Amino acid sequence: MERGKSLTIRSQRFLFAVSVLILIAGGFFAWEVSAESASRPRADANDVDAVGQYDRARWDLIHFSPDIEKASNDQCLMCHQEIMDRRVRQTSVAGLKAEDSLAWYQTLDTYAGEQDTFHRRHLTTPFAQQVMNLKCTFCHLGNDPREEAPQPSGQDAGKFTLRKSVNPEQTCLMCHGRFPFEVMEGLTGPWSEARADMEGDDTPNGCMTCHAETFRTVRHQVNYLNADAIEEAAKTSSDVCYGCHGGRSWYRISYPYPRHPWPDMPADVPDWAKSRPTVSSERFLNNTAK
Ligand code: HEC
Ligand code: HEC
Ligand code: HEC
Ligand code: HEC
Ligand code: HEC
Repeated sequence: MERGKSLTIRSQRFLFAVSVLILIAGGFFAWEVSAESASRPRADANDVDAVGQYDRARWDLIHFSPDIEKASNDQCLMCHQEIMDRRVRQTSVAGLKAEDSLAWYQTLDTYAGEQDTFHRRHLTTPFAQQVMNLKCTFCHLGNDPREEAPQPSGQDAGKFTLRKSVNPEQTCLMCHGRFPFEVMEGLTGPWSEARADMEGDDTPNGCMTCHAETFRTVRHQVNYLNADAIEEAAKTSSDVCYGCHGGRSWYRISYPYPRHPWPDMPADVPDWAKSRPTVSSERFLNNTAK
């Protein structure tokens, strides 16, 4: 009896000591968590309710207009760093090694390095950084947790961009449309056929036969492209130009590019160009990228 009692007291003391330790450790942990969340935008430092925190982040004003228009990549990456860190599987579920597979669009001269994710191919590969200057908000005009989809599904889907708020017509299509040879006087077929007659050792980039001085020489003056670097890179291969103008086309249509006036431009506007704007979209003119 006596022994049992003293054991109980001892274990009570032990429990007390452990609780003190837990409290201290817990305090330290809470301090760490609040220090971490203090560095995030709009997260409540004292909030320990994970669900509440998640919902607040999900509905964070940065996902919506007008904040989204001013957001920097760094601000988005504070919560979405996985976008940059994630890598493709080394081996597919069926056992195919990533390094052994090459898709048709990866055979352009400019394709380099290991297989990589979609986001990294647009934001961090050396080629992407050389020719482009894409921001998260170039593609994502926010995140709409309400899942923007037409109801019923038969309706015009044009203005719906799903939850990720990416409109392919105003993003992807600009660099992944079909090569529009029909509007190019002097070309009678797709680039794969025309190219051989245009290119030789002295003229490695056949596009320049017409685009160095004669047609549409005012181009790429937008904040998401590195105009000078594109011309520099294109000196050695038409794949630089073709890459964004048909070489990786996910669509059967072409983007209706603005038609900037160029020096010595003929006064007559061809029929196909009558509806074209003559300046790039306003959104891409301010030079605040990155
Ligand atoms: C405070 C943290 C936070 C910031 C800052 C933030 N997001 Fe988010 N975002 C979230 C959370 C949480 C979700 C919901 C994730 C989910 O449900 O998978 C989300 C969802 C998204 C989604 C949809 C993901 C999906 O799978 O449908 C996109 C796209 C997105 N954010 C883009 C952005 C962009 C672009 C920025 C910068 C302008 C940004 N976010 C800034 C926390 C943040
Ligand atoms: C070139 C256009 C483009 C750019 C630039 C871009 N995204 Fe995305 N993002 C997409 C598309 C398209 C998807 C949908 C991909 C899918 O469903 O597989 C996506 C998906 C996402 C998702 C959902 C999770 C996922 O991996 O599917 C998040 C979060 C996200 N993007 C955040 C960002 C952030 C943050 C940046 C800037 C660092 C960024 N994106 C830059 C087009 C882009
Ligand atoms: C401003 C031009 C531009 C825009 C806009 C753009 N891309 Fe790309 N895309 C590129 C370039 C350049 C590459 C090649 C990158 C490289 O070789 O590293 C590429 C590569 C790709 C690849 C191949 C990746 C690989 O592993 O080879 C896919 C798929 C892709 N883009 C899809 C999209 C989608 C979907 C969108 C719209 C959400 C989009 N792109 C918007 C320029 C663009
Ligand atoms: C034989 C001459 C010729 C060659 C070679 C040529 N183009 Fe063109 N391109 C033209 C002409 C002509 C136009 C239309 C000019 C105008 O707006 O009146 C044009 C227009 C374009 C346009 C704008 C299309 C639009 O709808 O606004 C793009 C983009 C383009 N060319 C890219 C290229 C690329 C990339 C190459 C090489 C892969 C190339 N061109 C090779 C003659 C050529
Ligand atoms: C990284 C992708 C990319 C590369 C590389 C690229 N372009 Fe473009 N190009 C675009 C985009 C996007 C536009 C539309 C820009 C805008 O809205 O003003 C465009 C516009 C054009 C136009 C229409 C010009 C006008 O009147 O505004 C021509 C012509 C053109 N490109 C030719 C070329 C040629 C020639 C090369 C190689 C020297 C080349 N492009 C390389 C993405 C690219």
